[in-house]
Amino acid sequence: MKRLLSIAALLLACPFLRAVEVINTDNTTLVLNAVKGKPIAQLYYGSLLINGEAEALWNSGSSAIECYPAHGLKEDREEAISVIFPDGNVTLDLRVESVRRQSWEGGEILEITSRDTYYPFSVISYYKSYRTENTISTWTEIINDGKKSVELCRFDSGCLPFRVNDPWISTFYGKWANDCRLNEEALVHGTKVIRNRDGVRNSQTSHSEAMISLDGRPNENFGPTIGAALCYSGNYELRFNYPCEEYATFHAGICPEDSHYTLSGNEHFTTPELAFSFSKEGLGGVSRNFHRWGRKYKLAHPSVERKILLNSWEGVFRNVNEEGMEQMMNDIAQMGGELFVMDDGWFGDKYPRDTDRSTLGDWMVDRRKLPHGIGRLVEMAGEYGLKFGIWIEPEMVCEKSELYEKHPDWALKAANREPSGSRQMTLDLSNPKVQDFIFDVVDDLMRENPGIDYIKWDANAAIEEHGSPYLKNQSHLYIEYHRGLANVLNRIRAKYPDLTIQACASGGGRANYGILPWFDDFWCSDNIDPIQRLSMQWGESYFYPAIAIGSHVAAAPNRITGRVAPLKFRIDMALSGRFGLEILTKKMTDDEKALCARAIEDYKAIRHIVQFGDLYRLNSPEDGDGVSSLMYCTEDKSEAVFFWWKPVGFRQEILPRVKMNGLDPQANYRISELHRTDAKALKCEGKSFSGRFLMDNGLDIPSAGKNDADLAYGSRVLYLERL
Ligand code: DGJ
Repeated sequence: MKRLLSIAALLLACPFLRAVEVINTDNTTLVLNAVKGKPIAQLYYGSLLINGEAEALWNSGSSAIECYPAHGLKEDREEAISVIFPDGNVTLDLRVESVRRQSWEGGEILEITSRDTYYPFSVISYYKSYRTENTISTWTEIINDGKKSVELCRFDSGCLPFRVNDPWISTFYGKWANDCRLNEEALVHGTKVIRNRDGVRNSQTSHSEAMISLDGRPNENFGPTIGAALCYSGNYELRFNYPCEEYATFHAGICPEDSHYTLSGNEHFTTPELAFSFSKEGLGGVSRNFHRWGRKYKLAHPSVERKILLNSWEGVFRNVNEEGMEQMMNDIAQMGGELFVMDDGWFGDKYPRDTDRSTLGDWMVDRRKLPHGIGRLVEMAGEYGLKFGIWIEPEMVCEKSELYEKHPDWALKAANREPSGSRQMTLDLSNPKVQDFIFDVVDDLMRENPGIDYIKWDANAAIEEHGSPYLKNQSHLYIEYHRGLANVLNRIRAKYPDLTIQACASGGGRANYGILPWFDDFWCSDNIDPIQRLSMQWGESYFYPAIAIGSHVAAAPNRITGRVAPLKFRIDMALSGRFGLEILTKKMTDDEKALCARAIEDYKAIRHIVQFGDLYRLNSPEDGDGVSSLMYCTEDKSEAVFFWWKPVGFRQEILPRVKMNGLDPQANYRISELHRTDAKALKCEGKSFSGRFLMDNGLDIPSAGKNDADLAYGSRVLYLERL
């Protein structure tokens, strides 16, 4: 260590030799030490350093910790990269060779090239700053400059060392109908690994994002916190390594277990982007950074308001027919909706799509159900003043389908094994012919029905059978699948830039910044029960902005939980995300339709705040204190929407008074309740309060009396306007 410090001091004294590389955003700084001939190391990541403080780090006693450690020549430690050279050598000795900087319109890109001391092999570590979003991302380009292949056994996107001081982590787990649940725990000594090898739905059982609260328990508003998101649609691994040292490390990358990669001579391999953000304002500060970054760079059509839609799934499931679709269009148009989406069930010729075990792959309209085709539905939607959307699941095939009969070798299956008999198989996207087929599914639909405005792109299976009839090297399957998927999506986006596309995968299986750039939003969960959605959408909000989170009103009793929650509560829950309906509208009463119509009108007025505003989480649904609450504020703090839900109820319950956040303390705000159903207005209705008062004291939402908030499932949506 002493030696390192004295070399660094020497290097700092020699202005011509750059060693300390600083990368800043508006409020944060990352300092790397890139001494030529030494491994790349990280010296600091935290709040903005100014006036030479980056160099003062050395005097503060900070250590430079290797940030792309390689296998084979050091004592046991968590490694970011390990390879096998053609002669069998398993050691890698990467030393910094050169540093390059370039600016781009949103910040800077730092490229540090490290080369092996003996073999023709190098790694370029990239660090890209997104200045105003206070986000930095890292990834590597691994280059085999030799002629013979090198085996990549581990190839993380990045490694982030952090100084330990009672670190806690927040990560996300789940399964079908219980997506994105928050898990908070103290980081303990050893290695914690989160691995996802679904291959397709990579955010259903675990998420590739994590928060690290550096100084004790996670706090919504205070304390140094790092958020990290691996932006990749395939298999991944997150590792937290906490040795008996002052520093722990966080690693993220493609899960190498089933993905050893043979890097041919002269081949370059680029690892997925790992984005991270630091805030002193706790979890909330990091979330807001990620939301701004996601909205600006990682979503399709980031500045376009999302349409209010009715989706046919929970209304009719696969019982699609022209009359039923028209009825739904009529109803949603009457309620003020803007888009109608026909879900599963509309396709198939030889095999009608009446069950989930057949027909995927046969993307021709089922004339028995829709005698006048999709064209007529698009036309009808236009007549009702709506846009039209359609569901497809193009990465999949059923054994019972014309596609499978024609191309059995297009499905993933392992040689010499009996097929698993699953309800559907995953197509082999490594095969360019399959890629063409999938592109054509979309292209044909769009060319034949030019008015289609929206596609719900579903994917309801994993890579179950690990075998590609096309690939020579089976351990490349996961990686080539996602390269193939990216090719298809790039072609679709190039030809149909304005199309809205939703990412769905058994519900919330594709909530990931690696896939979202091609999509406008993701479906959060097949479970639309509003109580479970409070927790799931709370979890998604750690990294994803409301504009990306598909959030619908469904029928009661809920089809999965059986819970009967009042329509007002179901609406108020759904309004906090990208709002829509998913219900058999013809069964709704006039009063219910009228309430939906009022809520839709209100959503149109607050949509810009929910979809583009800053999120402040106020009271967690997991706290068990009877209330869950959050709010969105416009960037200029001139408007805000406050959501308050009471998911359970006890008579004479004492509820917490929720303090607001994110307002201008100096300004006055007038309060009005949206689509109130109580006969009696809240005391605060029409009154104004200073932002300071609302943030220091909050408002009392009645917990006793005649208001419906007295019962279980009370909910309020308040609009705040700066005077
Ligand atoms: C799973 C999706 O999550 C649902 O919303 C629905 O589209 C079904 N698939 C259709 O099969």
